[in-house]
Amino acid sequence: TMVEKQGFKHYMLKEIYEQPGVFRTGLASYISETNQIQLGLPPDFINSIERVEILACGTSWHASLVGKYLLEQIAGVPTSVQYASEYRYSPPPSLKNTLVIGVTQSGETADTLAALELAKSRGDRCLGITNRTESSIGRIADAVIDTQAGIEIGVAATKTFVAQLLMFYLLAIEFGITKGTLSAERTQELIEGLRQLPAYMERILESQERYIEDLSRQFTHTKDFIFLGRGINFPIALEGALKLKEISYIHAEGYPAGEMKHGPIALLDEDVPVVAIATPGAVYEKVLSNSQEAKARDAKLIGVAPLDDPAAHEVFDHILPIPVVEEIFSPILTVIPLQLLSYHVAAHRGLDVDQPRNLAKSVTVE
Ligand code: G6P
Repeated sequence: TMVEKQGFKHYMLKEIYEQPGVFRTGLASYISETNQIQLGLPPDFINSIERVEILACGTSWHASLVGKYLLEQIAGVPTSVQYASEYRYSPPPSLKNTLVIGVTQSGETADTLAALELAKSRGDRCLGITNRTESSIGRIADAVIDTQAGIEIGVAATKTFVAQLLMFYLLAIEFGITKGTLSAERTQELIEGLRQLPAYMERILESQERYIEDLSRQFTHTKDFIFLGRGINFPIALEGALKLKEISYIHAEGYPAGEMKHGPIALLDEDVPVVAIATPGAVYEKVLSNSQEAKARDAKLIGVAPLDDPAAHEVFDHILPIPVVEEIFSPILTVIPLQLLSYHVAAHRGLDVDQPRNLAKSVTVE
């Protein structure tokens, strides 16, 4: 009913809007007033971990890819990410002092549970990141981190994704502090950076929904989309493409922007819009020049980019503006316009956004 949806047309839209609040809840639960991170992992335990292997499916796998970036760049911990459905039948060689992290919103995805059981049977220590601590993953893992996003009803994950990302920031910072790879000063900077994000998330929601709703109308009959990103925003390009596929049934591919020339560029013409995530940082100019190459093939270019940069205005036909933050925090912001874009395209097509065909909220069979 509309009451449960609090005036929103779909649960998915309501859940997109809940994200700043979910982020604030996570910050309040896991960071003390004196900026101490409290995930409940003993320092001895953290110090005994030399590498991390993350197992997940779907949107949780995308969050895990961002998690790898954070654990490696912030904490210096070598990390790999596998689809749980792949790991279960071809696990890599067992290495000591590996922490295996299962990431699953529902805590019930069959492949993720089976993969984690396998890791456990090989003697790895197992951590779960889940929105349902009472679920099956709670019984398998040695410890779980509760993403505290509140129940998510839309089949396409949104707020649980952002909550999983926050847990990876906290985990990476905690590992960095404990292992001595993060200075006290940088730690404070990162925590302060996280604290600023909810207000920016709100600003994006307030300022862009109308615009994206309008823009989306142009794509009601589009057949293919390409999403480009690099570095920490490559997984967000994958997530943008997945969201669009899931609820609008439009074919979409996420690609690392630098790889476009090795294939996807052959698909481009005026009928294939390209959405590029271009945020200031290590790869900003690179993404802009990759986008320029797409534009030269007549593709319509949509940039998730800063509002005030003339270079971005020159390349993109449409800009979904995001406030400029340190690059490492940008995924928390860049994902929001992509969620809104997929939502509105699907809504304009008159589709059942909350219950897309052939998909289930959690896949409890193999
Ligand atoms: C299903 C859902 C996706 C979700 C995936 C993994 O495919 O439709 O939205 O990302 O399962 O779910 P999990 O509960 O393990 O995060």
